[in-house]
Amino acid sequence: MRKRRSVHNYKHEIVEWKAIENILDIVLYAPSGINIQPVNWLIVHDPEEVRKITSLAIDWMREFTESGRDHSLKPIMFSLTSAYAKGSDPICRGAPHLAITYGTGVLVYTDCVIALSWFEIVAPSFDVGSCWAGFLKVTATTYKPLMEELSLPVGHVVQHAMMFGYPEYNVHNIPGRNAPKISWK
Ligand SMILES: Cc1cc2nc3c(=O)[nH]c(=O)nc-3n(C[C@H](O)[C@H](O)[C@H](O)COP(=O)(O)O)c2cc1C
Repeated sequence: MRKRRSVHNYKHEIVEWKAIENILDIVLYAPSGINIQPVNWLIVHDPEEVRKITSLAIDWMREFTESGRDHSLKPIMFSLTSAYAKGSDPICRGAPHLAITYGTGVLVYTDCVIALSWFEIVAPSFDVGSCWAGFLKVTATTYKPLMEELSLPVGHVVQHAMMFGYPEYNVHNIPGRNAPKISWK
């Protein structure tokens, strides 16, 4: 687990459905509050659809930066839209696929985050790398055109999202971390 890394560069190669199903069959064994198992998966398998989702997220950020409205991410939105204008994908990092967890109810958020954490840990056993897609998550819970594009069942909400695919590079270094912040009683 110390060697886990967020993958920011992906090959164009497609991850076959079977490999993704194998990962999700293991993730199924993650814990679930009162075993309700409320996690739903939207796997965006078509890379063109991932690019469309990126462009919708950028649309939202562009609209936001041009508006007078405030948002805690506003300072970073300008750099993301600028990077996109220069040809990079700062939202999904050029990943071919997305795993989006969604659902409804008070217990769903934690279970969805646990499930995606398991996804990130299990995926390398299938040579798949991943990275949390926080900017996408914010947009997918805010921007109506993106919500319509995802077309989740009525009442269901995106809880979190992850980009994934085959990593372009092998990463060997383990970056430093701050010491754990612990109180003892
Ligand atoms: C909730 C969450 C959201 C994140 N969102 C993004 C994102 O939108 N784009 C991105 O490139 N990385 C994203 N990351 C990855 C972090 O930048 C990364 O975990 C951090 O820099 C530490 O690097 P490491 O995961 O390789 O140890 C996110 C991570 C978390 C936990």
